[in-house]
Amino acid sequence: MSAQQTYEVIDEDAAARATSPQELAYEVLVGLSSKPKRLPSRYFYDDRGSELFQEIMACEDYYLTDCEREILQRHAGDVLASMEGAFDLVDLGAGDGAKTRLLLRYAADRGLDVSYVPIDISEGAMGALVESVARDFPGMEVRGLVGEYAGGLRWLAKHRAGRPKLVLFLGSNIGNFDRAQARGFLSRIWTTMGPSDHLVIGFDLKKDIELLLRAYNDSAGITAAFNLNLLTRINRELGANFDLSRFRHYGTYDVRSGAMESYLVSLVDQEVHIEHLRRGFLFREWEPVHTEYSYKYLRSDVDALARDSGFVVVHRFGDQHGWFIDDVWKVAP
Ligand code: AVJ
Repeated sequence: MSAQQTYEVIDEDAAARATSPQELAYEVLVGLSSKPKRLPSRYFYDDRGSELFQEIMACEDYYLTDCEREILQRHAGDVLASMEGAFDLVDLGAGDGAKTRLLLRYAADRGLDVSYVPIDISEGAMGALVESVARDFPGMEVRGLVGEYAGGLRWLAKHRAGRPKLVLFLGSNIGNFDRAQARGFLSRIWTTMGPSDHLVIGFDLKKDIELLLRAYNDSAGITAAFNLNLLTRINRELGANFDLSRFRHYGTYDVRSGAMESYLVSLVDQEVHIEHLRRGFLFREWEPVHTEYSYKYLRSDVDALARDSGFVVVHRFGDQHGWFIDDVWKVAP
């Protein structure tokens, strides 16, 4: 790895605030005191959680990754044709970068002048990503950022101001936001984008509910392990004594909101002590703890979201089944 191919932990203050034990303690206190109980999904992605999510993406039942791989394989050229000259390929929530690699391969083979700027919350995932991209693309500038989306966008505005950018927000990561949060987040991205910049954004579409249920309740139990890992993280970072065998994963689809919802359901009456909060929490038999939303979209929902957040749709690419789309957007003139 050269100096041109490295990563840094950005915006120490903000990053520390977002992921510090105190912040987690606060969110756990608020969430477990709520009725119904809840825990925030952004804490899934510690190093172990990022590994488990990579296993989810490789698993047969989780169709989203296969759909998006198919789209990017077929349309890498069309996506990259949006950009002229040198540009930053900014990858929000890059993870293992497996799908982005399809774009990097296309760009490298044609000698396009691309700098890769992956942003991810997991330092473990980032280390592995930068190392493997550096190995496979020796000449390419790689500037990894370890932090949350907001910190990454601030860093870009400050350190890469005026550089043309293609922003990737793949994998239906937008699905964790409800409709209002999605508009807010995209409007935030809008403020960072110039007239020649583009956003590539993946949406999981509404489809046969049986397929959705299988994707979030995979037969190998990986999604269950991913969800339960949140309790392991709280045990470790907040000195809690969750017994994972006394909770079960449950994924369900809410037709009214159009979201897959993940829960951890208590299997017995139990009290869990959390040392950092100096208190216990009572869980009743069959009491649910909500952990994640994964919103699904109609194409017309996506059109409205683009419009409402100040973008125009330039391209829309779908997979053969019509299950997933990757859109290319730019700021409305
Ligand atoms: C990473 C948010 C796109 O919601 O499908 C996968 C996370 N949760 N299985 C999704 C997830 C359960 C995933 N995203």
